[in-house]
Amino acid sequence: MPQPTEAIAQRALDLISPHSVIGLGTGRAATAFIHALGERVRQGFSVRGIPTSEASAALATQLGIPLTHFDEIEYVDICVDGADEVDPAGNLIKGYGGALLREKVVASVARQRVILVGAEKLVPVLGTRGILPVEVVPFARTPVKRRLQSLGFDPQPRLRNGQLFITDNGNHILDCRIGPLNDPITTDRDIRSIPGVVETGLFLQMTPYLLIQDGDRVVVQHSPHLRPSENANGTHGC
Ligand code: A5P
Repeated sequence: MPQPTEAIAQRALDLISPHSVIGLGTGRAATAFIHALGERVRQGFSVRGIPTSEASAALATQLGIPLTHFDEIEYVDICVDGADEVDPAGNLIKGYGGALLREKVVASVARQRVILVGAEKLVPVLGTRGILPVEVVPFARTPVKRRLQSLGFDPQPRLRNGQLFITDNGNHILDCRIGPLNDPITTDRDIRSIPGVVETGLFLQMTPYLLIQDGDRVVVQHSPHLRPSENANGTHGC
């Protein structure tokens, strides 16, 4: 499977203005971006980051990227993150890495959202890859699992090293086995209405700016539904 590259991270870096507040995503693509940003900060570039996970916070700190928090700022200027599925309208499934809640909080207050993905993440319909992560409070895991089963999903508690996976928020993840979602807005609403569900991995109608690694090319795509506009050597900006 193609991996996010330095090229896509560097292209994201081109979108960052000095002195901005940057949402720092989680996962391989976001990690590549944080490394690129850290190098820029080392050269004197001034920004502050809001991390979407403890892992990204630790990496940013290690690289010397100053961090801030929501008691200090109201909005995030731009957030840069990966995704697990992207549909043609720019709707996403996220959370395979388990950081979906903080990722959605940061994305919700970001003025601009940049998503870095390999072309293999582009799907015709959300659900194509077959998994929708749902974060649940531990107390409610079993009743939520039953309700999800009654809605026709097949929720599997996420495990790590044979133990229940625990998110940075102290919660658990139910990975719902799903098929293509014809109405993701309704799916999201139905799941989030179950007591004990904290958040779903459906990131809908957020109109991200997509940077897509397609072989050797980086394709820029403004959602919703615009044609790819350039390649890795293009000059278009955000
Ligand atoms: C983390 O919870 C996820 O939402 C990641 O952003 C997503 O899984 C993409 O990760 P990769 O860049 O590692 O594929």
